[in-house]
Amino acid sequence: MGAMNVISTSSKDGLRAKGGVGQSIAHESANRHVRGSAIYVDDMPETEGLLHAWVILSDRAHAKITTLDLSAVKVAPGVVCVCTADDIPGANDVAPILSNEPLLAKNVVEYWGQAISIIAAETEAQARAAASLAVIEYENLPALLTIDAALEAKSLVIKPMVMVRGDVDGAFARVGHMLEGEVRAGGQDHFYLETHVAQAEPAEEDEMRVISSTQHPSEVQHIVCRLLGAPYAAITVEVRRMGGGFGGKESQASQIAGMAAVLARLSRRPVRLRLSRDVDMMMTGKRHDVLGRFKLGFDDTGRIEAADIVIAIRAGNVPDLSGPVLQRALCHVDNAYYLPNVRVNGYACKTHTVSNTAFRGFGGPQGMVVAEAMIAHVAAKLGKTLDEVRAVNYYGGEGRDTTPYGQRVTDNNMPRILKEVEESASIAARREANAAFNASSPIVKKGLALFPLKFGISFNMPTLNQAGALIHVYTDGSVHLNQGGTEMGQGLYLKVAQVVAESFQIDIEHVRVSSTRTDKVPNTSATAASAGSDLNGMAALAAAETIKARMRDVAAAKFGVAVDEVIFANGRIYGGQKSLSFAELAKCCWLERVSLSAAGFYKTPDIHFDAETCTGEPFYYFTYGVCAAEAAIDTLTGENRILRADIIEDVGASLNPVIDIGQIEGAFIQGMGWLTMEELWWDKDGRLKTHAPSTYKIPTSRDIPVDFRVKLLGDAPNAKPTIFRSKAIGEPPFMLALACFLALQDAVASVVGAEKALRLEAPATPEAILRALGRVE
Ligand code: MTE
Ligand code: HPA
Ligand code: MOS
Repeated sequence: MGAMNVISTSSKDGLRAKGGVGQSIAHESANRHVRGSAIYVDDMPETEGLLHAWVILSDRAHAKITTLDLSAVKVAPGVVCVCTADDIPGANDVAPILSNEPLLAKNVVEYWGQAISIIAAETEAQARAAASLAVIEYENLPALLTIDAALEAKSLVIKPMVMVRGDVDGAFARVGHMLEGEVRAGGQDHFYLETHVAQAEPAEEDEMRVISSTQHPSEVQHIVCRLLGAPYAAITVEVRRMGGGFGGKESQASQIAGMAAVLARLSRRPVRLRLSRDVDMMMTGKRHDVLGRFKLGFDDTGRIEAADIVIAIRAGNVPDLSGPVLQRALCHVDNAYYLPNVRVNGYACKTHTVSNTAFRGFGGPQGMVVAEAMIAHVAAKLGKTLDEVRAVNYYGGEGRDTTPYGQRVTDNNMPRILKEVEESASIAARREANAAFNASSPIVKKGLALFPLKFGISFNMPTLNQAGALIHVYTDGSVHLNQGGTEMGQGLYLKVAQVVAESFQIDIEHVRVSSTRTDKVPNTSATAASAGSDLNGMAALAAAETIKARMRDVAAAKFGVAVDEVIFANGRIYGGQKSLSFAELAKCCWLERVSLSAAGFYKTPDIHFDAETCTGEPFYYFTYGVCAAEAAIDTLTGENRILRADIIEDVGASLNPVIDIGQIEGAFIQGMGWLTMEELWWDKDGRLKTHAPSTYKIPTSRDIPVDFRVKLLGDAPNAKPTIFRSKAIGEPPFMLALACFLALQDAVASVVGAEKALRLEAPATPEAILRALGRVE
């Protein structure tokens, strides 16, 4: 590590500081997580006067509220404050991008589980008991619950999106083969272990401190201010860590924090709101389910010449983040394949269901489901394998390196990764073995499939690609690090601390990362788009380098050497024959009245995107990965298992290999859950019936592939000068789980043939597998 670094780091006599970049060290809170001493919002001691909040939810999907009688709620034991839409001091609006997305429903409810009123009481039990006393009467209105119903009614939350490249109609006129197909994939609940939670503590006048389990403290700050009618400078939002976010706390944490803040303002007392699992699942948004329709024109080899694609996602009642999610879906419907003539129409459907939101991959997975369905349809039609069809469609070669939105693919690691997986996972031999197994096994059938991944890194709104950090060096040599990113388990705090340790060449134990706070680093972006370490790592590096330059000047004067002869290495600073410890030099700086504090800032260079025309270079770079998965199905029960998964993922020069491997494992299993078992089910009246672990099945430790092999692509520093040439890791491996779905489809195909196996829908639950096998209706 280190050879390709953007800045030079130093070592002296081969000694390096402990915990610098590239070293496999444990999560900064690993011990605290295991011992139970890591403090989450709900673990904070209950201060004097703390109230507990609860939410009254709608039990209709779409209805006019004819009666809202809260008189019994108000006089219930322990109740201190009851709030409806009319009582909100500022605007009743929590929209992250647009406007008119109510915190509390007024007059009309637009989904089952929508918040109508909030209550604060002395205890949570009292608040819950009071909530049950609300009398609400409704007059039903017609409800659109599905993508199909919304498409038919032309019900959309934002205007349609179109992405076009080449001459689609002309290309269709020339091609030898055509087909039309359709694919669907379900939604997914985030199921973070820590449900949404916030605590609001009023201070002097209009000031307030809000502790929120959020990926986006600045947005919580802005939305709390909008609800209260307060200036941003009056409100401070803070988060030490989340017990998982996965995108679910990117925009929607502001609702929970907003509720706590409004109740705190009205009662002038601190308020904590922690959703139960059921309420969390009912009230907050999920991954968008998707419907893809495509018409493809291709040649005898399976090379796609023309593609006319529709991607429709279920947005729910309001836009929230559905615009950028749909945009990312459009920008990933190519996946790793060159589509010369392509038109994609995107629709974010307005339905009377909860507003869906960011979820790991942010539309990328939905786009790729469509991409792989296109490959599978062409393969089935021509009687070829997926890999044969992919081989003639991959990016690469003369004139075949530009995405539909106009960005060139210049850093293509796919050929290398594919080859390494094909060899290390013995794909050819295992295919033969599986064919033999299937020929002699009447009930259990095996399938094997690869999935190649290309994923674009950067927020697809260029403005969001900025970050800040604040560093103080104290005179004992310890370092306080604050940065704009949040910690949700992904190891961001550790990675940024490693960057700072590397820069100063001090052991990481001297770097203390502090809670993310809007009063330390302002105007931040969400920790999302997998860009946390890319952005905040760079900002922290900038801050550290600023301080280091000042320290270097002091050292040079002290040692009587030129500035460029001063070396920071292994906890000491050397010049000529002299040296000082980092702490000694910090003390010298103080004596010389030199500032040891600095802010750093970073913005991703070179990116631009026109959201209207869907063209530009939205991504600073691409990440690549390949997964080969082997699955078995029981053709009598539909039960299935992933027997083996081999993954190679391109993370550039990893900042921390063990953290990255952990991210790959976790993301992959989460993706497997989405595609093979997690099923959200609404009844005909739009009630979500799967709102607890009893009915909603996420993968457990026993669902991990029996044989699970995860590797980082070796010797592959990022071609772009990212933070120490690393690449983002948080979301991309989620999509590698598509290999599991395709392996299950392959197993189904061994029974009913490739064309009929295309009926398999995600999630590939036992029922879905039996349906695809034609065993049940
Ligand atoms: N890992 C853990 N343990 N918990 C999480 O909530 N969220 C994922 C990913 N990995 C998540 C996680 C998502 S959706 C994103 S966008 C990234 O982490 C965000 O963090 P990063 O940008 O620092 O990778
Ligand atoms: N990812 C996550 N969040 C976002 C994005 C993105 O690409 N764009 C806007 N918000
Ligand atoms: Mo991740 S879905 O970008 O929070």
